[in-house]
Amino acid sequence: MARPPRDIVLVDAVRTPFGKSGGMYAETRADDLVVRVIRELLRRNPQLPPERIDEVAVAATTQIGDQGLTLGRAAGLLAGLPQSVPGYSIDRMCAGALTAVTTLSAGIGVGAYDVALAAGVEHMGRHPMGEGMDPNPRFLSERLIDPEALFMGKTAENLHDRFPSITKDRADAYALSSQERTAKAYANGLIQPDLVPMAVRSAELGWGLATVDEAPRPGTSLEGLGSLKTPFRPQGRVTAGNSSGINDGATGALLMAGEVADELGIAPKLRLVSYAFAGVEPEVMGFGPVPSTEKALAKAGLTINDIGAFEINEAFAVQVLAFLEHYGIADDDSRVNPFGGAIAVGHPLASSGIRLMAYLARAFELNPQVQYGITTMCIGLGMGGTVIWENPNFEGVTR
Ligand SMILES: CC(C)(COP(=O)(O)OP(=O)(O)OC[C@H]1O[C@@H](n2cnc3c(N)ncnc32)[C@H](O)[C@@H]1OP(=O)(O)O)[C@@H](O)C(=O)NCCC(=O)NCCS
Repeated sequence: MARPPRDIVLVDAVRTPFGKSGGMYAETRADDLVVRVIRELLRRNPQLPPERIDEVAVAATTQIGDQGLTLGRAAGLLAGLPQSVPGYSIDRMCAGALTAVTTLSAGIGVGAYDVALAAGVEHMGRHPMGEGMDPNPRFLSERLIDPEALFMGKTAENLHDRFPSITKDRADAYALSSQERTAKAYANGLIQPDLVPMAVRSAELGWGLATVDEAPRPGTSLEGLGSLKTPFRPQGRVTAGNSSGINDGATGALLMAGEVADELGIAPKLRLVSYAFAGVEPEVMGFGPVPSTEKALAKAGLTINDIGAFEINEAFAVQVLAFLEHYGIADDDSRVNPFGGAIAVGHPLASSGIRLMAYLARAFELNPQVQYGITTMCIGLGMGGTVIWENPNFEGVTR
């Protein structure tokens, strides 16, 4: 099996609770969300001297205002990291944090870094999707992309067109299951350990503490979902109920060379096996995870049958279902998003990749019989990204 040149491990991943746009973080700065996550990673891992962090990469899709100023450096300074620790920003839209992890991991693999901190943030309330966007007119005048490619909800409708067997009923049933699995995971205390409470301020209500995700709707029913409007197309199939929402939140992860984790005495939660990104037609961007997964599997010398745990970002139900349909996996397979996903907890764009990793780490911990898992997501302008991970708790015969 092809392996990176140096063992690369993720030793911890945390996030703020995710808010609803206009909700609990309405008066909170995006960079303050990142600072909280960095502080929490240091607090939880006291064996790590902060000066041993070689790099900080923070992803955001809209890199202006409180998400600008090369956020990796700015948030590092604000979090009290030593001035000797450098940092920078990353953008690959929804896969920002996932790309921060893969890019830093590559740096660890070649020996440029021993320890790195990856993070992602999106305050979609302060920075609405597409803010400041100025697409080159050639995109349309030269028909380089379909005009619908810039509207994510329309790309989801297009994906329904490509897969007529994925009906609105199936998308709604999947969305209901995401809500139910999230509620169950919360009830079983499986989500809370990786949430960092965030102080919030409201001019009207005063100070408060965000401790849980704001978006989940545990009372969701199929009837309720069936009655929702389809905002992206008349008589469409994509609704507010079977899409991720408009959210605010930040995530962060600590990455290390395996030998450094051993030296510091920090137990790894995920071991990197391979990763890949791939492009598809931008107007069906939700199909991106299929070719990126194919590439990542080929690099690892694995097949889809070797994967025992799946964390697929739920930008839209149809996009998860297209992936499952491609691989012949049932819509309700218990290996897929066992603790629910973005349809329930939300998808603050560039932060979500690390949420998937935190959830996969939990699945690995609970399932020592599983050796390999993936985190995968679709990406605007027609891409997919996949990371394959090995379970450090695996108690079986290694391939
Ligand atoms: C789909 C979308 C347009 C909906 O936005 P919105 O209309 O502001 O969403 P809301 O939360 O107000 O929900 C709309 C309605 O559906 C209802 N609703 C939402 N989820 C529901 C559920 N699970 N069950 C029942 N009703 C639900 C809301 O109560 C609301 O009802 P109301 O109009 O009577 O108040 C928006 O969430 C969106 O653009 N999502 C995609 C984000 C995206 O593209 N991300 C990038 C991916 S690549």
